[in-house]
Amino acid sequence: MPSQGDTPTFPADGAHGGHAPARLARFLDNTGGLGIVLNLYASMYPGGLHRPGAEITDRRSPTVTRRITILGSTGSIGQSTVQVVDSLGSDYRVVGLSGNRRWSELLDQCRLLRPAAAAVADDASAAAMRPQLNGQMDLLTGPEGLVEIASRPESDFVVAAIVGAAGLRPTLAAVEAGKDVGLANKEALVIAGSLLMPLAKRKNVRILPIDSEHSAVFQAMASGRSGEIHKIYLTASGGPFRTWSADRIAQATPEDALRHPTWDMGPKITIDSATMMNKALEIIEACWLFDLPPDAIEVLIHPESVIHSMVEFCDGSVIAQLGTPDMKTPIQYALTYPHRATGCAERLDFHALRKLHFEPPDMDRFPALRLGYEVARAKGTAGAVLNAANEQAVAAFLEGHIPFGRIVELTERVLDDHVVDTNPTLETLLTADAWARQEVNRCLNV
Ligand SMILES: NC(=O)c1ccc[n+]([C@@H]2O[C@H](COP(=O)([O-])OP(=O)(O)OC[C@H]3O[C@@H](n4cnc5c(N)ncnc54)[C@H](OP(=O)(O)O)[C@@H]3O)[C@@H](O)[C@H]2O)c1
Repeated sequence: MPSQGDTPTFPADGAHGGHAPARLARFLDNTGGLGIVLNLYASMYPGGLHRPGAEITDRRSPTVTRRITILGSTGSIGQSTVQVVDSLGSDYRVVGLSGNRRWSELLDQCRLLRPAAAAVADDASAAAMRPQLNGQMDLLTGPEGLVEIASRPESDFVVAAIVGAAGLRPTLAAVEAGKDVGLANKEALVIAGSLLMPLAKRKNVRILPIDSEHSAVFQAMASGRSGEIHKIYLTASGGPFRTWSADRIAQATPEDALRHPTWDMGPKITIDSATMMNKALEIIEACWLFDLPPDAIEVLIHPESVIHSMVEFCDGSVIAQLGTPDMKTPIQYALTYPHRATGCAERLDFHALRKLHFEPPDMDRFPALRLGYEVARAKGTAGAVLNAANEQAVAAFLEGHIPFGRIVELTERVLDDHVVDTNPTLETLLTADAWARQEVNRCLNV
């Protein structure tokens, strides 16, 4: 993966902030000897990822009124978001929804939530859905419809929960339109963090993480200043193949790979968890979100998925965020930030839990992790190529065209053949994405 021009260095200190004291709730003495200080009740504080100290006054009130558009509302995160909004009461209202192929689920959501508009990317789904709506709301269609619904004036908050590169343009559009974004669509940052983060800063909007690990890091960061961070631990369940041999992993079937031990998610992220490409994408996501160098991020296998990630500060204190493996908790935190509200997810039971385990990741059996660090260092168009090649290879695996072991092998091969442009525009990122997909197809003789 050679690069054109110099690779820019990361600033030592981040642009993020936040330094309210956290109440350290307790030591847990059965955490595999790590002696982790748990930040169970991190203080609510009005700091922001991108503009510490620059608060919008209405957000200081105990309740936050949000008019929310959910991009990808028919998916796993989208449906959980609908449940969270429902549990939060009338201060939170859905004003826009989007789907792709599951139009009848989208129709049900429209009937239930009565948004001002809905968008459907898939033309056939739009044609099937339109007559059912009886003109009661605007129905926007195609990729342009997604961009439009993300930027319409009815909403002030957009949950970006479309899977894959399809989420990039609508997410950029939401930020461009000045809306705060709850970001589940990590691929948008992996592809275009170099555009999205500066745009958010320029537009004075927040990108609040919904990925559970990044939400955990964000919450733990409230215990110190950005310059006091020594490293972050991104935890990983290890996926369904944590204990499998390399030979057995290489031959895994889609059924094996879709059986995640702790999380219930959409198919693409579930396969990414099995290859550990998901953690690779999350390393890159964390670098962009928190303005950290890749070397400040350590992946730690934690099979119970109870500690969602941790921040180690310069004094040696490690602040962790814990909870049951349920995405409703980080979704809610993004929606209610900087406040907290009574949650609708199941709570942790420490008496039932008893033990937590940790182990280092195995880079030989899970080479995707190494790619994640390489791409996080290279930046530029590398993320777009990694993401697109992986998306294409995952689709080929799910369609039965390649064995599991070829997903990462193909992705690495395409990445190796790519000349990184270190100063990309949106156009060059999209070109790199298209090129990577073609390369995977060429390797597969499609
Ligand atoms: N699920 C989790 O627990 C979890 C956790 C952390 C982060 N994330 C991230 O959240 C995002 C969503 O994941 P998910 O598990 O919710 O995925 P999912 O269940 O597969 O849902 C994906 C959503 O995106 C829509 N979509 C798919 N292709 C599209 C396209 N070409 N254009 C427009 N919309 C399209 C789908 O519409 P239809 O269903 O109507 O086809 C659906 O609403 C991913 O980026 C993932 O990495 C997920």
